Amino acid sequence: MKHLLLILSFLLPLSAHFDDEDLYNFEKRCMVCHDTYVQNEMAPPIIAINQRYKKYYGDMDLSISKIKDFLISPSHEKAIMQPAIKLYSLMPKQELNKKELEAFPEIIMLLDYDVPEWFDEHYKSHNLKD
Ligand code: HEC
Repeated sequence: MKHLLLILSFLLPLSAHFDDEDLYNFEKRCMVCHDTYVQNEMAPPIIAINQRYKKYYGDMDLSISKIKDFLISPSHEKAIMQPAIKLYSLMPKQELNKKELEAFPEIIMLLDYDVPEWFDEHYKSHNLKD
């Protein structure tokens, strides 16, 4: 997985605010829970967050800033993945430095992720309207 992220990072717009160090830290700190290609293991896979935010806010910059808000202080009000909260409860706050706080939301939104086989059917089952 790390390899894939590093290769993709060359294709990003110059305006992206993250580097290889951020990708490494993202894997270490976020993928422990979010790299779940097994359904319903610990947390939604990153692709689920990526697709959900894209659909819900319909705008890349807005999605990135909403994720940043959530990471600063996760709360039920800020969270948009209600079925995931029901399943796992609210994400515990992660202590992030300023660089990580800028980088991680972009890593979630700007990279392409593999879609696990079970994902599309599962997503439909939530019957989300927005
Ligand atoms: C201890 C496990 C764990 C770790 C570590 C973790 N998460 Fe999460 N995360 C969760 C769970 C569980 C959810 C689903 C519940 C929710 O939305 O709060 C979630 C949801 C999210 C969401 C969607 C919130 C929403 O509902 O709108 C974002 C964005 C997110 N995580 C980003 C991150 C980032 C970035 C990191 C690394 C700094 C990270 N997570 C680390 C468990 C974790």
